[in-house]
Amino acid sequence: MIEVDHLWKSYDDADDALESAAVCDLSFTVEPGEIFGLLGPNGAGKTTTLRILATMLQPTRGTVRVGGHDVRYQPAAVRRSIGFVSNNTAVYDRMTAWETVEYFGRLYGMKRQQLHRRMEQLFAELQMESFQGVPGGKMSTGMRQKVSIARALVHDPPVLVFDEPTLGLDVLAARALLEIIDRLRAQGKCILFSTHIMREVEKLCDRVAILHHGRLLAEGTVSSLSYRFDRSDFEDVFFYLIDQADQSRADTAEYSVG
Ligand SMILES: Nc1ncnc2c1ncn2[C@@H]1O[C@H](COP(=O)(O)OP(=O)(O)O)[C@@H](O)[C@H]1O
Ligand SMILES: [Mg+2]
Repeated sequence: MIEVDHLWKSYDDADDALESAAVCDLSFTVEPGEIFGLLGPNGAGKTTTLRILATMLQPTRGTVRVGGHDVRYQPAAVRRSIGFVSNNTAVYDRMTAWETVEYFGRLYGMKRQQLHRRMEQLFAELQMESFQGVPGGKMSTGMRQKVSIARALVHDPPVLVFDEPTLGLDVLAARALLEIIDRLRAQGKCILFSTHIMREVEKLCDRVAILHHGRLLAEGTVSSLSYRFDRSDFEDVFFYLIDQADQSRADTAEYSVG
């Protein structure tokens, strides 16, 4: 459902700047009914990767397909297949929860009746009925986050992408959000989820890719990675891999200077 094949992204238009690329030769796939975690520290390339999937950025090299559609050549079909949730999705101050979601449903070309039926179902599922008439300017952070989820789900896409969705939420709202993601998996959605929080990965993800300086350091289930790197604590696996990668970068730098 998601296929990322030798993806490179450089923000530098000089195409040869691949050594300093934000994403370097990244490949992975995600299936329906699966939650795949992209785990990495700040600057690892998570947002860049997710934005390419959502057609908000162009890849420099490599192929990315969402629901079989190429992000480069079939961006409209990709956008119909995907819902994107980040932690800073704009919710308009003067539009109510209901109006905001309705607006995005219309943008996707949904017919009025079908849209309203879908919205009633979504507002019930996400427990948004109590604030459907509240304008963005008066919403709590948790409410805003639910609106941005509803807005990403309104066209019922098979693929959902969450970019550090719990950032800035209080513990209860964060927990509620993880439960929503878990239910979406049960509905068979294909879910890609980025975070720098290890516990979220351990709790939620079927498989995880560890990303650092744009490179994939390891990929697998949490337990397979613990086994492979012989550390019972997943956090130790993470820091071990980051440390090793930093050391080998330092060695390379020293070598090229010397
Ligand atoms: N718009 C941009 N222009 C130039 N460089 C960028 C831009 N966005 C991100 N970067 C760089 O790309 C790298 C990866 O960033 P990002 O994808 O945001 O990582 P993450 O989401 O994992 O924190 C970083 O080195 C960052 O500075
Ligand atoms: Mg980011």
